[in-house]
Amino acid sequence: MTTEIRSEALVAVIGAGTMGAGIAQVAAAAGHEVVVVDAAEDALERGRATVAKGLGGLIRRGKLDEAGKAAVEGRIVWSTDLARTAPAALAIEAIVETIEAKRSLFALLADLLGPDAILASNTSSLSIAALAEGLPRPERFLGLHFFNPVPVMKLVEVVAHPATDPAIAEAASALMRRWGKHPVAVRDVPGFIVNRVARPYYAEAFAALGEGMDPTTIDHALTAAGGFRMGPLALADLIGQDVNYAVACSVFEAYEGQTRFRPQDSQRALTENGRLGRKTGGGVHDYSAELPAPRFATDGPQPRTITVGDPGLLAPLIEAAREAGLTIKLADLPPATLRADGVTLALGDGRPLAERKGVDVLIDHARDFASAETLLFTPRAPLAAAVAAGFARAIGRKALLLPDRPGQLVLRTLAQLANAAADAVTDGVASAEAIDEAMRYGANHPEGPLAWANRVGHASVRTALEYIAEATSDPIYRPAPLFAAP
Ligand code: NAI
Repeated sequence: MTTEIRSEALVAVIGAGTMGAGIAQVAAAAGHEVVVVDAAEDALERGRATVAKGLGGLIRRGKLDEAGKAAVEGRIVWSTDLARTAPAALAIEAIVETIEAKRSLFALLADLLGPDAILASNTSSLSIAALAEGLPRPERFLGLHFFNPVPVMKLVEVVAHPATDPAIAEAASALMRRWGKHPVAVRDVPGFIVNRVARPYYAEAFAALGEGMDPTTIDHALTAAGGFRMGPLALADLIGQDVNYAVACSVFEAYEGQTRFRPQDSQRALTENGRLGRKTGGGVHDYSAELPAPRFATDGPQPRTITVGDPGLLAPLIEAAREAGLTIKLADLPPATLRADGVTLALGDGRPLAERKGVDVLIDHARDFASAETLLFTPRAPLAAAVAAGFARAIGRKALLLPDRPGQLVLRTLAQLANAAADAVTDGVASAEAIDEAMRYGANHPEGPLAWANRVGHASVRTALEYIAEATSDPIYRPAPLFAAP
């Protein structure tokens, strides 16, 4: 039995939709002859157009020429005849997401293709082991979970079920690398890595939205301070609220409601009200006009002097203040605390401001205070807010005000993402490194959630989560065992 999938091998893709067309493009661009089979003739036409558009985009960006485009297109055959897949060394299924349809397709493919062929499913939510049931060669069956848009997103989750031959999973990973992808090995669990670990990014934003927080503030906070490429609410609007909510529900149900993946009411309401996102012209945001700019805080006079003890994670802000010509005085202050014009500002630790004696303004976390263009403040009073915003202005940053809630917004989101990632490590879904890589390459996160937790320190993450769990009385914030006190 061969395990290697050679570059000359024919690759079959079944399903010419968004995913199938993308997979076909990538396989053909890597030099394979590809046959794409779809039950519907018009789907084949759309698939062909999707590939032409994808390759056209590469030409515009100077990454391909017309001859290259023609060569890639020339390697793809589009057909409604499943028998055309018979000589393939690898068949990747990307049809409708139902177990019955996929099982009957794999039964046909197992008969049609040779005994050496590898069969793979691109399913997002079905169990690979369940799909393998009844197949004559389950050891040559696995999940290859691509991300949309396939030609752009680097991640492929390589999902082995208990009977998958490890050499087959390795051969598939090697092939994915040759296709320019970043494969990560994942256990066959609901949501695999990304769809499971990414849940809190949305859930936390929808929780804040449900509390009445302004959506523009939420999205801006997570991009400008959180360092994410797109705000969670805008991203859910792009994915489609119905699609994102369905994933949230399927992961929650698959884990029998025992985990942290409880969907939010505000998310369900959008779907029920048909506010599905960009595709319907509006979701959380309204796309009929330009999106509003965040309502930045009005700043007061800029402080000339700040007083600080051990700056901790706020060190880059102190450095920025020094560079801006402010006088820095040292004093015996608690860590990550500074004083400006009689106002005490402290980095959030998970407790609400109401429980921080002697603190006038909480500063929410930023992924990187050196580059965060906006600082997020929870002030006790308008005067304190004006001083905080004046300090932000003095060091060239903008200021947004947040209500007093446990963990504020960025800390709470990052801590809960780390919590989900830590659970996944404990559940043996994948290694910590693979989980971080998956979140970077499959969800476009700027840094793995566990790398963030390592940087901030497990003890701080644990304490923050404990404070949030206590203040919200919500067990979904209980720290994962990975962060448990030694
Ligand atoms: P799609 O609806 O765009 O395309 C599915 C295609 O399969 C359609 O053209 C349909 O005519 C065809 N089809 C259905 N049953 C068939 C059969 N028995 N034989 C041949 N063709 C058949 O769906 P999409 O979005 O491309 O998703 C396909 C698969 O990929 C699903 O399993 C989905 O869960 C998975 N997936 C989707 C992602 C996404 O973002 N859309 C991301 C990762 C995985």
